[in-house]
Amino acid sequence: MTSLLAGRTAVITGGANGLGFAIAQAFFAQGANVVLGDLDGAAADAAAARLGPEARAQGVACDVTSEDDVDRLLTFATSAFGRLDVMVNNAGVTRDKTMRKMSLDDFEFVIDVHLRGTWLGTRAAAALMRDQGQGGSIINMSSISGKVGNPGQTNYSAAKAGIVGLTKAAAKEVGFAGVRVNALQPGIIETAMTQKLTDEVRAARLADVPLGRFGQPSEVAQAALFLASDMSSYLTGITLEISGGRNI
Ligand SMILES: NC(=O)c1ccc[n+]([C@@H]2O[C@H](COP(=O)([O-])OP(=O)(O)OC[C@H]3O[C@@H](n4cnc5c(N)ncnc54)[C@H](O)[C@@H]3O)[C@@H](O)[C@H]2O)c1
Repeated sequence: MTSLLAGRTAVITGGANGLGFAIAQAFFAQGANVVLGDLDGAAADAAAARLGPEARAQGVACDVTSEDDVDRLLTFATSAFGRLDVMVNNAGVTRDKTMRKMSLDDFEFVIDVHLRGTWLGTRAAAALMRDQGQGGSIINMSSISGKVGNPGQTNYSAAKAGIVGLTKAAAKEVGFAGVRVNALQPGIIETAMTQKLTDEVRAARLADVPLGRFGQPSEVAQAALFLASDMSSYLTGITLEISGGRNI
């Protein structure tokens, strides 16, 4: 396969771990310059070093809920590599509890990281891409939880459904400039986030997956690569499910 992202620059939030890191690996392998933004700056640096010794992988400390941090992250990318072609708004957290036990703080914390973070990243990346005049691809990380609603995740399901609406609205605003905005909706993928699920919840969710297994981070990364590259040049505003067929 030729290098799908040769010479392009991608920023991935929450890139130090899990799905974000797997996406970074896939993009890096296809020739991209990669900037990993993560709340944990040391982990972002270490993750960039794991990608390879080349200067084309860099880590930056960034809290996606901070407008200044997000702007700094993108400024870093354009200073280091001259341009921005792909933005992946992936950083995420969970604070699962039923509504009887969920505090307003639990609700707002999760909404902030996902929805405010994705909006800040989408807005800043779209502005840069419009100014560059060569299009671009923005990928927002939703979840099947936003499609079907999971008990114990009123905060997370609301945020992930909100990301779908944000993605569609943004796609309509910036399509004229060749900037594509799409969302990914993974089912259960084996990462630190899903290690927290109880055996009972895992068994119940697995029963709904026609492919009969949970996904691997690399399988989400391949879908992200498709949306990042010209292979998806006529796709915008879509939500791509990567769930082994769960809840279809
Ligand atoms: N793992 C799954 O099964 C699954 C399924 C659907 C959607 N998702 C979504 O995929 C994304 C990645 O999930 P994951 O499983 O890799 O999680 P993870 O916990 O392994 O990694 C999340 C990363 O985000 C970072 N992060 C958290 N808050 C941040 C903030 N405010 N600013 C910057 N970085 C921050 C963390 O430091 C961490 O490196 C999340 O948006 C998650 O909701 C995951």
